[in-house]
Formats: sequence, structure tokens, C-alpha cells
Amino acid sequence: MSTLITNIKELVQVRENNVTIVKGSDMKNLPVLKNAYVLIEHDTIVEYGTMDNVDGIEAEEIIDATGKIVLPAWCDSHTHLVYAGNRVQEFVDRINGLTYEEIAKRGGGILNSAEMLQKTSEEYLYNQASDRLKKLIKLGTGAIEIKSGYGLSIESELKMLRVIKRLKKVFPIKVKPTLLAAHAVPKDYLNNKVGFVDLVVDQMIPAAANERLAEYIDVFCEKGYFDLEDTERILKAGTEHGLKPKIHVNQFNAFGGVGLAVKYNALSVDHLEELNPEDIKVLKSSETIPVALPGCSYFLSIPYTPARSIIDAGLPLALATDYNPGSAPSGNMNFVLAAACIKMKMTPEEAINAATINGAYAMEVSNMYGSICRGKKANLIITKPIPNYQYLTYAFGDNLIDTVIINGIKYE
Ligand code: NIG
Ligand code: FE
Repeated sequence: MSTLITNIKELVQVRENNVTIVKGSDMKNLPVLKNAYVLIEHDTIVEYGTMDNVDGIEAEEIIDATGKIVLPAWCDSHTHLVYAGNRVQEFVDRINGLTYEEIAKRGGGILNSAEMLQKTSEEYLYNQASDRLKKLIKLGTGAIEIKSGYGLSIESELKMLRVIKRLKKVFPIKVKPTLLAAHAVPKDYLNNKVGFVDLVVDQMIPAAANERLAEYIDVFCEKGYFDLEDTERILKAGTEHGLKPKIHVNQFNAFGGVGLAVKYNALSVDHLEELNPEDIKVLKSSETIPVALPGCSYFLSIPYTPARSIIDAGLPLALATDYNPGSAPSGNMNFVLAAACIKMKMTPEEAINAATINGAYAMEVSNMYGSICRGKKANLIITKPIPNYQYLTYAFGDNLIDTVIINGIKYE
């Protein structure tokens, strides 16, 4: 099967060389080819160029993209897509004055999601997650990381990870699984947090690793959840079982979690709404990528991750949705890009780099995803006719996507 996309108004994120991450001031550079074509064979991008060089190129299917923009599908490196039900009542409670922390303290929040999930069958959990994932692919997501974390017991965490494994098998997009066993201290362990961390270290991590259900280890490193000592035990055990750290850190408080993550060679540090100069310094000496989640800041009305300080310090930055029922009930990457430009003062070029190639880096797939490069997977977004790529981040709330191509095939 071969497909030729012609008359592309702007072919965005075209890379001659297989760049796998962009950092600092390079993030402002977004290579664009005007009046272009792309040739796909099977699931791979094999050629691209300008329309004056298209003569003689044949394909079984031709897609005319006159007036449209083509870019790599979004790479969403941080989601909690598998969850049961919703937390709309807590949303209303917050509008009426309660805080996220207060809701969590009275047994709502993550514990509420865990209770619902424990009562939900694996089949029904899969069906809910599958419906969400279909919607996200139509919104342009072509690679995704999905965490456990609403199980809070071995059985339920493994149930979540099995649902992720099934999504990975059934869906054509890239799915990366993460074990987030330490997301909150479950009710039965409220006065015995150390006992719960023992359970995570001695049983959950080995079980997930032995069944090859996870590639990454995550912890909610935060006041009132898991402190530095807990986090270190979990990162150490995870690393020993071959799981790389990707951790929730500095969402509400900065107290050294970033340094700890770097010490364990974390692939990414995610959230960072609270960030101090020490954190930036330690990140500069590492391969760890910071990940910002503006949908969470928007929904909880908390500070936005200081993207300017991060990028201006020469660091890379990725953008992801954090899709979850409590702090970001939207998996729409298009909104995330707009929010990053509007609220975090990222340029459209930086936001697109952060949501494609750098998102792919934060899932260790940037050698195959996240840019238009010969030999890479043909996971592409074709927009509706729009003035230019900047318009994608400007006209927030509009669905500007016409077609999504996954592995060379139109996703319908
Ligand atoms: O990334 N911060 C921790 N975990 C999720 C939210 C969890 C929830 O409220 O359900 C997050 O924001
Ligand atoms: Fe999260």
C-alpha cells in the first residue's frame, strides 16, 4: 500500500536528519516545507519534497491536501487514560469552594477513583478506556503513555496494566505502559504508609516487571503523598527491575524531588508547576526531560510550569495532557498546545516541538515518531484548510483536524 499526499500548504516538522530531541533556543526552530508532498509506503514515510519535484512519483492512493497543513501526530507522554467513571461531583465541589487538597483529605480524589476502579470489571474498564483512546486518535494523538495508579492494590494495579496491554495490542498507535503504584496511600494503610511502600517495593514492582506489564516506574512525589525517602525506595526498586523512572514531581511543592529523579536517571520529570533554580541547575547536567501539563494547571487553577525559565536555560521541554479524571479530564493535545502558547508564553514553534519530537523523547520513541523524516512511522495529522500552522495554537477550541493517518492508514 502506498499513499501520496500532494499540494500540502505547509509540511511541518520536516527533518533531514533523525533528530531525537530539541533543546533551549533550538526549540524555536520548526522546519517547514511549503507546497510539499509526502510519500508513504506501508507504514513508513519514504520521501518528501516540494511539489516541483513530484513528477514521476506514483502511489495507489493520492490525498490532495490543498490549503491544508501536514504535521507529525501528537506524542502524549503523560496520561492516566485508564480510569473508572468520572469525578464530576468533585469538580462542582471545587467550584463551590473546596480545594483539590481538601477533597483528597476527606477521601475524595485519587482514593475516590481507586474505589470506583476496584469495583469495575477489567472488561468494562477496557471498554471505557478504548472509547477514550479512539477519540484521542481522532484528535491527532499518534503515540501515548498510559499509567496505572488508580488500583492501589496488587490485583487492581495489575488489572489496570492488563487493560493498557490490551490497548497496546488492539490499537495501531504506540502505547507505553507505566506502573504508578505509589499514587496515593490507600485507606487501609492510612497510618502505615511505610507498609504500603513495602508492598509497592516487595510485591507490586516485581509482579509488574515479571509479567512485563510496565516499562516505567512513576511515583507521586508530593507533600501528603510520598516523600523523598519513599520515592527513593521506589525508584531504586523500579530501576533494579528494569523500569525507568518517569515521575510526578513539584506539582504543589518543590523539595528536592527533581534532584532525586535525576540521580536515578529519570527519563522525565513531569508537572514542575513549582520549580526553583536548583532544579533547573540539576536538570542541566542530565538527560532527563521536563514535561509540562498545562491542562492540569488550567483545570485546577494552579500555576503553569515556567516554560520560559526552562527553555531559556537551554533545557528541552515536552508537553502532555495528563489526561485523568481528577486534575485534567481532557486528553486533547490541541488544547494543550494552545494553552502552552497562551498561558506559558511558548511560541507555536516551541509548542509543536514540545508536543511532537520531545513528547516522543519522553517515551523513548523519538527515533521512530515525532517528526517527518524518511524511515519514520507515517503517523500524521492533516488539518482542515487553515492559514498556517500557527493558527492551530491560536484558534483554541476549534477542531481543525481533517484526517489522521496512523501507520500509513487513515484512522476512521
Ligand atoms: O497528574 N498528581 C497526581 N496525579 C494526577 C491526578 C490524579 C487525580 O486527581 O486523579 C495528576 O495530576
Ligand atoms: Fe499525572
